[in-house]
Amino acid sequence: MCGIVGYIGNESAKEIIIEGLRGLEYRGYDSAGMALVHRGRILVRKESGKLANLESKITKKEFTGNLGIGHTRWATHGSPTRENAHPHLSADGRIAIVHNGIIENYLELKAWLIEKQGIQFRSETDTEVIAQLLGIYYEGDLIEAVQKTVSRLRGAYAVAVVAADDPDRIVAVRKDAPLIAGIGEGRNFLASDIPALLKYTRDVYLIENGEIVVVSRDDIKIFDEEMTRVKRDVMKVTWDADAAEKGGYEHFMMKEICEQPDGIRETLQRRIGEDGQIKLDGIRFGKKDLEAITRIYIVACGTAYHAGLQGKALLEGYAKIPTEVDLASEFRYRNPLVDEKTLFLCISQSGETHDTLAALREAKRQGARVLSICNVVGSSIARESDDVLYTWAGPEIAVASTKAYTTQLVCLYLIALYMGRTKGTLSEEEAGRIIGELMALPEKAAETLKAEEQIKKLAERYYIKEQIFYIGRGADVGTALEGSLKLKEISYINSFAIAAGELKHGTIALIRKDTLFFVMATQDALYEKMLSNIEEIKARKAQVIGIAKKGNKRIKQICDEVIYIPSCADEVAPILGVIPLQLLAYHIAKLLKRDIDQPRNLAKSVTVE
Ligand code: F6R
Repeated sequence: MCGIVGYIGNESAKEIIIEGLRGLEYRGYDSAGMALVHRGRILVRKESGKLANLESKITKKEFTGNLGIGHTRWATHGSPTRENAHPHLSADGRIAIVHNGIIENYLELKAWLIEKQGIQFRSETDTEVIAQLLGIYYEGDLIEAVQKTVSRLRGAYAVAVVAADDPDRIVAVRKDAPLIAGIGEGRNFLASDIPALLKYTRDVYLIENGEIVVVSRDDIKIFDEEMTRVKRDVMKVTWDADAAEKGGYEHFMMKEICEQPDGIRETLQRRIGEDGQIKLDGIRFGKKDLEAITRIYIVACGTAYHAGLQGKALLEGYAKIPTEVDLASEFRYRNPLVDEKTLFLCISQSGETHDTLAALREAKRQGARVLSICNVVGSSIARESDDVLYTWAGPEIAVASTKAYTTQLVCLYLIALYMGRTKGTLSEEEAGRIIGELMALPEKAAETLKAEEQIKKLAERYYIKEQIFYIGRGADVGTALEGSLKLKEISYINSFAIAAGELKHGTIALIRKDTLFFVMATQDALYEKMLSNIEEIKARKAQVIGIAKKGNKRIKQICDEVIYIPSCADEVAPILGVIPLQLLAYHIAKLLKRDIDQPRNLAKSVTVE
């Protein structure tokens, strides 16, 4: 969502800040801006729209400085106008700030600032109250002003501050929004996320909740809430800068779809020993621990939630632990039955999703043990969990999640297998069979990708449809939901997914001649039932594309066309079954000339409620 970049050094700051913001474009934004400190003044440029708009406004010689902060904004409070873009200034224009997050009590603070302090606001944002408070509290000590200001804020924030009268440092503070400091030589950096800094440094400090960081040319000092100096280990970023680029593909999304065989392999490889034993990176649940767990809540949002839906059957099937799957945005408002016998399993690619993080904290507060499946090392969810099992998918840049989803599924298999074996509820033979199926997945995923040409042709035939339905049964329900989400988020075609058995309870009324259905039929145990559903749909003259395992011939006789995935066990079919749906959404969106990697109104990580 929003991105923050800060730079202090001896070079011109504006190019470095733009480059940093470019590294964060993948997060989605609708305006951008920067502030430089130069000769006792703060210079600000901001523009709505893409970074190129801002770039065209910073070329003048007079807009210069060796210290500055930049921001990409995704509108929450107030429309995406230039006035609402960050940085925001104090009333006297001598302090500038950029902010990620939401200030929950901003209306109250705004009223106080207007009525008691006579401040005139220039924007509709919650952020401006921070700038105005800083202006009021600044009496020559910027850190003190930051401390006094944050003591009045409620909500989530990562804020970077520069002051005209304190021209040799950037002061930043965080609570529930990510912040890192990047280490250079004779120059240092600040950012909300690692990709902003990959061009300049791989050595970073992760700033913790409540901490203040003071970044100057030669030094980065971190303080806790009591202003005691904190010693922090340097984290070395091991990703390759290239990994964050498109690597020859037209879009990140296609690159990431094609990276799935490798992501699955990586995620599996480190966890299955040669002896067939599952190792979860040092995560330990003994037999007694597992027997004591009375309930598992899988909690996540969007695509990660769809992965969670598959987790329920796995955990109940292998580990025999009752499992509920919940949307994070619902979980904490419905008084869930959580206690110290509960395992809270949260799934998040970014590890920064506000709703998931808030649900995690609530579960923790009520005594649950927290295990998370995450893709971003060092993210808030990863840090606040008792245990983390990472998906080794590599950075996922496209807003639409693909490789994170399939690797999340792999992690769920591993956790369920581990628990089933440890608890003794899954036989060695059965576990061995499933592990064999998992190990074959990278190759089968690569095989599934070969259906792209067929899918491209289908996309050409159907991209003009106004709505598309997805159905399935059992494990195929989650896949249908995920395929439908992929289609709507990047193609903007109205799409609907439903458990096939539910069709006749209402939705069947929507079927007309030429309505298009994608029918998942990858579950051998439910295959016959799916054939009956297809007959029902065809009887109403709708069009049906089936997705089935190789070798299933009858489906071909009744569908308009079938996309085959390699044959595999029912349990692992969701990993292969989703790939054709990802490809289909991509090619339809491409034909419709959509902004595939950054669809409208969406952001890569949703750090607001
Ligand atoms: C859809 C998509 C979103 C995310 C959701 C949760 O393609 O990416 O639905 O899955 O916003 O995000 P994470 O996994 O980062 O918590």
